Amino acid sequence: MTRILLFGSTGMLGREVLRIAEETKFEGTIVTVSHAECDIRDEAQVEKTVAESGAQVVVNCAAYTQVDKAESETETAMEINGKATGNIARAAKRHNMFLIHISTDYVFDGEKEGAYKPEDETNPINEYGRSKLAGEKAIEATTGLRYAIVRTQWLYSHIRKNFFLTMLRLFREWENISVVGDQRGTPTLAAHLAEAIIKIAERRDEVETGIYHYSDSGSCTWYEFASEIAKNDGTKCMIREITTEEYPTPARRPKNSILDKSKTTRITGIALKEWQEGVRECYEKWRDERR
Ligand SMILES: NC(=O)c1ccc[n+]([C@@H]2O[C@H](COP(=O)([O-])OP(=O)(O)OC[C@H]3O[C@@H](n4cnc5c(N)ncnc54)[C@H](OP(=O)(O)O)[C@@H]3O)[C@@H](O)[C@H]2O)c1
Repeated sequence: MTRILLFGSTGMLGREVLRIAEETKFEGTIVTVSHAECDIRDEAQVEKTVAESGAQVVVNCAAYTQVDKAESETETAMEINGKATGNIARAAKRHNMFLIHISTDYVFDGEKEGAYKPEDETNPINEYGRSKLAGEKAIEATTGLRYAIVRTQWLYSHIRKNFFLTMLRLFREWENISVVGDQRGTPTLAAHLAEAIIKIAERRDEVETGIYHYSDSGSCTWYEFASEIAKNDGTKCMIREITTEEYPTPARRPKNSILDKSKTTRITGIALKEWQEGVRECYEKWRDERR
């Protein structure tokens, strides 16, 4: 039986880990920790939480995730995504637990042609990416810790705040909208990543320590992602394709951040789903919950 300690249990991904565990009849226990119960910046509190959990696996879904705000709240982003990740890593090591930590495609600069492999050189172009990379480094510096850093991208779900829900709202508010069509990646249904996290937790003894990439399969631009959501929704809202230059944001984003998942599928045996399948699944879930 696997016992998991889950940080960030009230976030988008954390909540999906809990839902999927229940729906797939995960044969184990998940001990949840919310921000209110434990601020991961407090090392003593993290140590106490980890020590009392009796878990074999720590899953860290807690993070500072506001990409644009991180440009001005740089210190806070670094404290949570960088330093505090080190608190979790050291506590997991002290109690001989396997750590599954979620990181991001934004550790890359986006200049590569083709998909990024876990061992490719990192070079974040925004503060959020720099803070997440600092978290990865803190884990790697924890000697003797067994871990899987899982980099993912373009996460969405039928809950919380994300691109998928923003589009559905905009379709209802406007006749025309504009979406960037020159950044390429892969939309990833949080529920699919949640399944992968649970599998890694269950197979931790066979999973070698290191960095893994996980997203749904295929790739598209944000414009194509929006168009797929629109197709499912049957909206009459027109979507115009624009360039990044026409939609300036405080944080720069990589032009290409497609992830190479071959190591993940080989070592974990996880089968990837097409991103369009994720959109369909998410739309059905969202629609059913509104009925
Ligand atoms: N969303 C994406 O597109 C995306 C892409 C790539 C990677 N990721 C990574 O995926 C992971 C999950 O992201 P998500 O989208 O599920 O994020 P989310 O919805 O913003 O959830 C983040 C969670 O972290 C908690 N948290 C924030 N600061 C904390 C602190 N100091 N101490 C303890 N808990 C704290 C939040 O609690 P409160 O809400 O109560 O503060 C929330 O439960 C993160 O590591 C993120 O970097 C996300």
